[in-house]
Amino acid sequence: MAGKVERDEITGVETTGHEWDGIKELNNPLPRWWVLVFYATIAFSVLWWILYPSWPTLKSHTRGLLGYDQRTELAEIMAKVEEERRPWLERIRGAELAAIAADPELLTFAVRGGEVIFKENCAACHGLGGAGQLNYPTLADDDWLWGGTLEDIFYTVSHGIRFYEDEDTRDSTMPAFGADGILESQQIEDVVQYVLTLSGREADPAAAERGREIFLEQCAACHGDNGKGMREVGAPNLTDDIWLYGGEPEQIRAQISKPRHGVMPAWDSRLSEESLKMVTIYVHQLGGGE
Ligand code: HEC
Ligand code: HEC
Repeated sequence: MAGKVERDEITGVETTGHEWDGIKELNNPLPRWWVLVFYATIAFSVLWWILYPSWPTLKSHTRGLLGYDQRTELAEIMAKVEEERRPWLERIRGAELAAIAADPELLTFAVRGGEVIFKENCAACHGLGGAGQLNYPTLADDDWLWGGTLEDIFYTVSHGIRFYEDEDTRDSTMPAFGADGILESQQIEDVVQYVLTLSGREADPAAAERGREIFLEQCAACHGDNGKGMREVGAPNLTDDIWLYGGEPEQIRAQISKPRHGVMPAWDSRLSEESLKMVTIYVHQLGGGE
């Protein structure tokens, strides 16, 4: 078709020669406004390439005349934050726990930092704000398994509980009185009734009386004659109606028959010294610190 110009009969406009189902494409010029906008976008992009970082080069990219770069900006902000934090972290590292707690400025810094660390590492088990949940102790009350002084908490967090990868881990094992056949099921029943009375729960008095004897023989070594627990072995206080594994008869029965042995990971290999101190301070001030 070269050389031969075809014209549309009705409008007299040249056609492009493209035709679909009898519909011909006319070779109208583009609207002027459209062409202007098109050129403007080209000019804009050229200007952008010159002013801002844009084209990749083999190793990096063109920098642009303005020298602006969001990555550099972010890196500068991060460096500034780091710079501001460093002296604080150094002070935390160099100070005793008690000294941090006694210095209002350091305390504020440690609590803020500790809260972030807690949310990231601890809240999954212990709940936000250390509220606790079934099988995971509340850290915001004054009922402590292993102790609530700054040193106690620091030790627990550093070495964990029954976390045998750490040889200094806190350890103790409640025997499986049912599963290992130490007590008959009737005896377990009686001691369950006695444990219920310790926290003022409803129980069968005669069974509880028999259970008391068994308790003194089998349980008092760890939970104490009065059932108030013993921190050296992390044995819970059974008189305060605060339960790690639940205070219903079937939950108590389950624990006596085949106890859970709660595991808390050791954090000293995962968190820095400053972080351990800050999260300790944070837990300590949640409400139950001693
Ligand atoms: C995988 C779950 C888990 C995570 C994560 C965890 N803990 Fe624990 N933590 C436990 C369990 C379970 C116990 C109770 C163990 C026991 O039976 O003595 C516990 C006990 C504790 C205790 C002792 C409480 C007491 O009454 O003496 C402290 C303190 C503690 N955790 C702090 C922390 C801190 C701080 C973190 C985060 C750095 C953390 N835990 C992360 C499971 C966890
Ligand atoms: C060797 C020490 C030891 C002996 C003996 C022992 N306990 Fe325990 N007991 C523990 C420890 C430690 C825990 C906490 C377990 C954990 O954190 O996983 C516990 C937990 C419990 C709990 C759960 C408390 C809660 O808050 O949910 C009950 C109930 C209990 N013991 C009852 C008994 C009874 C009853 C006996 C005697 C028949 C007994 N224990 C003997 C160490 C002992």
